[in-house]
Parts: sequence; structure tokens; C-alpha cells
Amino acid sequence: MDRVLVLGQGGREHALAWKLAQSPQVERVFCAPGNPGTAHEPKVQNLHLASDDHTGLVEAVHRLAISLVVIGPEAPLVAGVADRLRRAGVAVFGPNADGARLEGSKLYAKAFMARHGLPTAAYGRFTELDAARAFLRQQDLPIVVKADGLASGKGVVVASSRSEAEQAVDKFLRQGPILIESFLEGEEASYIAIVADGQVLGLAGSQDHKRLLDRDQGPNTGGMGAYSPAPVLDPHMAERVRREIMVPAARGLMAEGISYRGFLYAGLMIGRDGPRILEFNCRLGDPETQPLMLRLRSDLYPLLLAAARGEPLPPQIQWDPRTALCVVLAAAGYPDAPRTGDAIHLPAALPADSKIFQAGTCERDGTTYTQGGRVLGVTVLGADVAAAQRRAYDIVQQISWPGMQFRRDIGWRARA
Ligand code: AMP
Ligand code: GLY
Repeated sequence: MDRVLVLGQGGREHALAWKLAQSPQVERVFCAPGNPGTAHEPKVQNLHLASDDHTGLVEAVHRLAISLVVIGPEAPLVAGVADRLRRAGVAVFGPNADGARLEGSKLYAKAFMARHGLPTAAYGRFTELDAARAFLRQQDLPIVVKADGLASGKGVVVASSRSEAEQAVDKFLRQGPILIESFLEGEEASYIAIVADGQVLGLAGSQDHKRLLDRDQGPNTGGMGAYSPAPVLDPHMAERVRREIMVPAARGLMAEGISYRGFLYAGLMIGRDGPRILEFNCRLGDPETQPLMLRLRSDLYPLLLAAARGEPLPPQIQWDPRTALCVVLAAAGYPDAPRTGDAIHLPAALPADSKIFQAGTCERDGTTYTQGGRVLGVTVLGADVAAAQRRAYDIVQQISWPGMQFRRDIGWRARA
């Protein structure tokens, strides 16, 4: 029986740990640091390791006889934690720092897309205020301004006026180089694949809801909800994304000498001319993971282990045909200044085919409190999107804390 270690502490990692613990091949899942949700999962145990203590991490992996480490968030991947573990002979699911640059630097990602003929928006790269402003004056509106590095969703401004664009340029240039990118029209979707040294095994499609408020209004967030399947990524479109984006990307990585073993996430804009890449991420999406794990029927563990070892992947994965939908419940003040320490009232019991994944929570004396921006992800299966919405919002109604925020329209594009 094998032991797995999941690095991270969000809703994505709770869903991963929950799914991996269901594998008959897995004896125990450790989460570092995990959260109160993972702590209460059968077969799952939290580990307290300082996130920058890489020596301690390698030591713990050996001491606990861990057979696979799955790295959830982008920050440790970009920081080279996978490299460090691989050097110590550990099987790791998650790319090395060279592959994680696809997320860690938007300029690197755009140059990679250009080298491999991947469809994306036209852009300019700027390091000087005057040149950026002069370029802006010649562009149509809306226009998109992006900071180069990791910014947890705060490094992108879609500006509908020139003054808004100039403000973003001023702000982002203070932190480093920027991109000014043409605006793409269409509907967004997430295509995530397991990539292993040129092999691509696509997951089911999903759709995130990045804006804070109903009907996609308000500021961008890490994601207020998600569902799968997403009608915009129908089998025909998913095949195009695989052929036009994921396979050339995976081959491009190989051709550049990058051994990429991990999730590769393409944030897409599906427009009239087909799919265009908005961004690459080097990990699963949060909250897309929550509905994906509820729909996944295949055992996740052997898939990730095979990818981590660079072994052949099966041609397909089994999915529940129903719709899975996740409603994120966020703290008061999210996304700018989330308030912590509010006591959460949780339902005593949950119906079948539903799960509350925890993210920004902590626990004291048997009570759960808010501890971060996105607090819980109420995730359900339903016969269709409408049924999944009813089931999810029935549960949401039974949860409360002061200032709890959530969207009431998760899945609306699938019903429009
Ligand atoms: P990103 O972090 O690059 O995915 O950008 C965050 C969000 O900004 C995306 O989910 C889109 O909603 C929006 N966005 C980014 N780039 C573009 C673009 N070129 N055209 C339209 N919207 C964009
Ligand atoms: N849900 C979007 C992301 O994880 O980047």
C-alpha cells in the first residue's frame, strides 16, 4: 500500500486529497500543511512543515516512505520544489521550475506560444512608461494590461478606457516588465491535461467564474465557482484544443529539453475563430478541481504515479456523465481584504453526491472559523446544470457566517 503527500492547503488540495484517499492502492494521504477539511478526511493526515524548508520536506518524504508527492499550487512549482524532490529520487507530480515558467512568466509563455505556433492574442512587451503609453494610444479598446510575474489573479486589467489602461500600466511597470495585449472576444473555458514528457491526457472541460458578482460583474477573484462539463468545450471543441494547443505545447516542451510531468492548464477564450490561449497554468485550477474530482470515476493515483515516472498514460479517463458544480463561499471583504475569525455555521449532514471542500478555514475547540478569502467550496453532482444548481444552493442556504459572500448564478452560461 502506498503513501502520497499533497502539498498545499486550499480547496483544490482538499479535493485532491479526498480523491487520492479513495484509491485502493493508497494507504494514507499526507497533506502539508493541509487544512481542517483534509484533517477530518478518512485516511488523510496533515503534516506541519514550513513551506520554505525544502530539506525538511525531503527528509519527511523519506522518513514517511512516501511513494508520490503531488504539488498543488503554483508558488512551490515556480520556486523549484519539484526539482529539489526529483534530485532526491522522489516521484513527483508537478513540473520542474523550467516547465512552471509557463505560469511564472507571462512573457516567457507568450514567447513559447509564438515559437510553437499556438493561437493567442497579439501583444507588446514594455519596460518603459513612455513607450508603453505611446503604444496604448494607438490601440483599440478594450485593451488588456498584464504584469509579467505571478500575481494570484491580480496582475491582469481588462481596461475599457484609456485612463484605466494607463493606470494599470503605471502600476504594473513599477514591479517589472508588462504586456499589453489585444482583447479577445468569446466565452472562457478551462482545459486541463495530465502531461508526461510529451503525452497528453485531457481531463473533462470546465468553466470558472472569475468575477466576484453575479453576471460576471465586479473585481476579478481567484474564482467564485466552477462546473463541469462546460457546454462551450463540447467534444468537437475539446478535440480542437487538444490538437491545436495541448499536443503542440507538450511536444514543444520536449523539443526545448523540458521534461514536464504535471497538470497543464490552458485558460481559453473560445471565439468565432476557435480556441485562443489566455494563459497557461502549471497546475490544476481552483475551484475547477472541486467539480472535476467529484466527476472523476477513474482512480487518480495510478494516473499521477505513471505520469510522475514518465510511464505510458492510458488513452482515456472515466467521468460521471452528470454535471458537477461548485459554489465558492468567500469571507467578508474578499478579494481585497478578507476578514478572518468569523465562526462558520455548517450543516449537520449532507445529501449523497455532495461535498463541502474547505479552503480558508481554521478550527478551534470544535468550531470552524474563516481564515482566508475563499473559505468553502460547496460541490455537488446533478442530472444537469439546473439540478446541480438547485442541489448546491440548497446546501449553501444551510451555511452561514457574518459577511459570507457568494454568487447566486454559478453555471449561468450553460443555461443562457
Ligand atoms: P489571465 O490571468 O491571463 O487568465 O487573465 C485573467 C482574466 O482576464 C481572464 O480570465 C480573462 O477574463 C481576462 N483576460 C485576460 N486576457 C484577456 C484577453 N486577451 N482578452 C480578453 N480577456 C482577457
Ligand atoms: N480558477 C482559475 C485558476 O485556478 O487559475
